[in-house]
Amino acid sequence: MLKIAIIGCGGIGTYHLGHLLQFTDFSKIVGVCDLISERAENFSAKTGAPAYTDYKVMYDETKPDCVFICVPPYCHGEIEYETIRRGIHFFVEKPVALDLDLAKDIREKVEKAGLVTAVGFQCRYSALVDPLNEFIASHPLCYVDCVRVGGVPGVDWWRNKNISGGQIVEQTIHNFDLVRWHFGDPEAVFTYGARGYVNDVPNYNTDDVSVTAIRFKNGGIGQISTGCYAKSGEAFDGKITFSARDSRAELYILGKLSIFGVKPQEVTASEETEVIKGDGNLARSEGGALIYTEKGDAGVPCDRTFLKAVEAGDRHMVRADYNEAVKTLAFVLACNKSMATGKEVVIDYD
Ligand SMILES: NC(=O)c1ccc[n+]([C@@H]2O[C@H](COP(=O)([O-])OP(=O)(O)OC[C@H]3O[C@@H](n4cnc5c(N)ncnc54)[C@H](O)[C@@H]3O)[C@@H](O)[C@H]2O)c1
Repeated sequence: MLKIAIIGCGGIGTYHLGHLLQFTDFSKIVGVCDLISERAENFSAKTGAPAYTDYKVMYDETKPDCVFICVPPYCHGEIEYETIRRGIHFFVEKPVALDLDLAKDIREKVEKAGLVTAVGFQCRYSALVDPLNEFIASHPLCYVDCVRVGGVPGVDWWRNKNISGGQIVEQTIHNFDLVRWHFGDPEAVFTYGARGYVNDVPNYNTDDVSVTAIRFKNGGIGQISTGCYAKSGEAFDGKITFSARDSRAELYILGKLSIFGVKPQEVTASEETEVIKGDGNLARSEGGALIYTEKGDAGVPCDRTFLKAVEAGDRHMVRADYNEAVKTLAFVLACNKSMATGKEVVIDYD
């Protein structure tokens, strides 16, 4: 039985807990920890595992094989160093840090220790990934375009860019990660940000909206626009368009994939997706659109894959490990730097 510990029993901790309780055939939660004791007690009641407010004491007493680190962006550093020192494999939530040098140092220590790591980019485990990859493999992309506009999330720390990183780094990082994963590594970015529209949220000091132009190492270009100014009901899209000369794929993250300009028989559906023949009533589509719909929760295979990788001692099973997450962090932090300096920023992956 794989022994699992959890640090951080807030929103995303609860999401992972829901998954981990499904894996009791090969794993067991042995300890749960939060600085807020009621939160740890609440997890303890659900799991039967002892509650802690100090993760080092939890490590001493429960000796976990692996840990889920589910703390806010500004809380990274010491937890990872202590976890690595003890040789505990870890799953950590995105963004893995707010300081790129810190993340790179942790990356180096993870490498030296040979640990299995994973990061909470569950979109990489979506059932829409395979048909999208199939599309991209047979349709050379010319351009990628992404829009995600929503509201201000409820947790207090989110509103303060100094401790959350702001919307690109904290939230739209999922979209940036998918763009990088599918289209290729970006080389440089130029980001414009704007403020002043959100004026009714206490202690709010972050960008309301931003637009990032991207130059990729493979010569391509793209853009990602994102905002958190929308009031309830006014959010839109959350869509990435992968555009080729003869066709395009529109990915609504964790929702739906629409492929235009491809004949239905050219694409096969996996067990987890449904194929619906749409009318594809857009000028450039021929033969209708293929629509794949996400059915399950991609977080389940994401968490399960990490545990199975720990069990097998095979870090390559994980789709987004710490090293991958540092590359995406370099991408999003470059956008923040560009917004602050008003200049193009070349991304520093090393
Ligand atoms: N993968 C996803 O889709 C997804 C979704 C939501 C949030 N997240 C990420 O998860 C992280 C946490 O977000 P959240 O919404 O769960 O925040 P939250 O504030 O709801 O919960 C975080 C918890 O961590 C605890 N904590 C902080 N430092 C600790 C420490 N040293 N020891 C023990 N507990 C500690 C806090 O007390 C709090 O209860 C963020 O980085 C966020 O970006 C990821």
